[in-house]
Amino acid sequence: PDVPDLDASKVTITETKDLKTLPDPETLVFGATTSDYMLTCAFDPATGWGTPEIKPYAPIPVDPMSSALQYATNIFEGMKAYLGPDGEPRLFRPDMNMARLARSANRVALPPFNTEELVKLIKTLVNLEKRWIPTLEGYTLYIRPTIIGTRAGFGVAASDSSLLYIILAPSGPYFRTGGSKPLSLMTVEDCVRAWPGGTGDHKLGMNYSPGFNATRLAVQKGYDQILWMLGDVITEAGAMNFFVVLKSESGEGWDVVTPMLDGTILPGVTRASCLELAAAHGEKPIFDDLPPLRAVERKLRKGDVKQWLAEGRFLEAFVCGTAVALAPVGRIGFDGEDVVFPKFEGGLGPVGGAFRRRILDIQYGRVPFSNWSVPC
Ligand code: COI
Repeated sequence: PDVPDLDASKVTITETKDLKTLPDPETLVFGATTSDYMLTCAFDPATGWGTPEIKPYAPIPVDPMSSALQYATNIFEGMKAYLGPDGEPRLFRPDMNMARLARSANRVALPPFNTEELVKLIKTLVNLEKRWIPTLEGYTLYIRPTIIGTRAGFGVAASDSSLLYIILAPSGPYFRTGGSKPLSLMTVEDCVRAWPGGTGDHKLGMNYSPGFNATRLAVQKGYDQILWMLGDVITEAGAMNFFVVLKSESGEGWDVVTPMLDGTILPGVTRASCLELAAAHGEKPIFDDLPPLRAVERKLRKGDVKQWLAEGRFLEAFVCGTAVALAPVGRIGFDGEDVVFPKFEGGLGPVGGAFRRRILDIQYGRVPFSNWSVPC
């Protein structure tokens, strides 16, 4: 539609003197605390994207009939702000989050928006809220750009109006154990997260709630998270992408393997970064202590993991995502039978550990890599 696009230059800021007291960073858990401000911007089919407004964090009025509440037109991104060595905020590969948000919007017929303007708005909000970025390593300011359909009505159709908002959450580690204790995963086969042509490769709110009950059952059985399957194919772990590292069949170097993007996998930013680091190291070493690596995207079957372990090729497994960064996997319950992986000091194995350190170094702006870290 030929209506005004999102325009960061129109942003208005309503400041408050009534600022919250910063929490003791060590008490922070993941995504439970909000900051002082939020940004909102409404889309109306007749007038397009309106004025982006930064104002004190507060509940938003939502019609009980709204499309988001009735038909789950709810899409979001997960990003983080990091303080660089110069004390200034930085984002990590925001263009990837924006491209994915635009795809998610299209998937559920929410209005398109100028992705570069949205990055500018995120930067403006993060700069204003800089004091909320924790300085403790492993603690970050999580950024949640969200778009909801606001059309009020039960008609089963696209939401012609919508609301974009950005909220911030100063956060501690995604797992209370800090990500060093290896996770145990339980496969679930009686319900699936994603299927070919479904929505699993988009970041829609509706992709997450169907995992809550399965996760609760897994926790009752003594596992930390679920390993999503599609038949005998491994897809994802909870809300994270799944990787294994194995000795290459040729005997030279190691393969860094993750399920291919076949429409059932969320194209994670950390997932892509792990694959790109592996490929870069395969071309010209960038990690001192690692043999040549090969990035492999393929179908990953339950039987493959068991076979690689039996052959002695299996080295390590890890999960990754923006929220968790990288965390080790120590055990998988397949069909009621536990498969236990090698243990490593500090949790992650050699590849996961090296990737985690390097990705954090890049995110915090300590080590440059391919313009991944973007100053606000
Ligand atoms: C992430 O790693 O950022 C996720 O996808 C988990 C999130 C939904 C909290």
